Amino acid sequence: MQYSRIAVATLASFALTAQAGGTDEAEARYLEESRKTAQEFMQTLGGTLKQQIAVGGFESAIGVCKQVAPALAAQYSSDTRTVKRVSLKPRNSVQGTPDHWEKMVLEGFDQDQQAGKPPASMEVTAYSESADGRWFRYMKAIPAQAMCLKCHGTEQDIPDGVKTLLKAEYPQDKATGYSAGQIRGAISIRQQVQ
Ligand code: HEC
Repeated sequence: MQYSRIAVATLASFALTAQAGGTDEAEARYLEESRKTAQEFMQTLGGTLKQQIAVGGFESAIGVCKQVAPALAAQYSSDTRTVKRVSLKPRNSVQGTPDHWEKMVLEGFDQDQQAGKPPASMEVTAYSESADGRWFRYMKAIPAQAMCLKCHGTEQDIPDGVKTLLKAEYPQDKATGYSAGQIRGAISIRQQVQ
């Protein structure tokens, strides 16, 4: 099993141990499931977003992000699994704010990118133990593409109509100022270990 540098650092500082999760075989299964869920989630959301932009433009697509992203997250989550998107600069401060571990991983992703690693291949796994059980954790980086900048880019990138709507819907918005290729956030999956 491959752990990235960040996961290893996390293992040391948070006492997350590979043993806590059980066998390599189980871990391989959790990883495979998490990868599949992350891919499906991002494809469905990206597809819906692109479709809405094509039909109704960027302003209308804000509603897709606001409604569809949390609905999809809920759909893929269960009693034993949570799926969400997090960011160091969240737009949705309720759903998008990372917990302690997620924040560390996101910071690690940014550092790795600065060191020249391509974000598309960045993922991290770890086990954690807390009062509510043992968990397999998975995060995958989400790089910003050119089209994302209409809603997440600089002052010049974002059309005025979009700016106005974002201000009204997300007064605490931190998710602007990105450039293409930069890491916008990550998908984060927390799966209970049997
Ligand atoms: C039409 C505007 C729009 C476009 C285009 C857009 N986003 Fe967003 N994005 C939003 C909105 C609105 C939210 C907040 C959704 C919510 O309330 O959960 C959001 C939230 C997110 C989040 C969750 C973390 C957070 O900040 O709350 C990520 C990650 C994200 N976007 C990445 C992207 C990426 C990557 C692209 C391009 C593939 C993209 N977005 C394109 C409007 C947009």
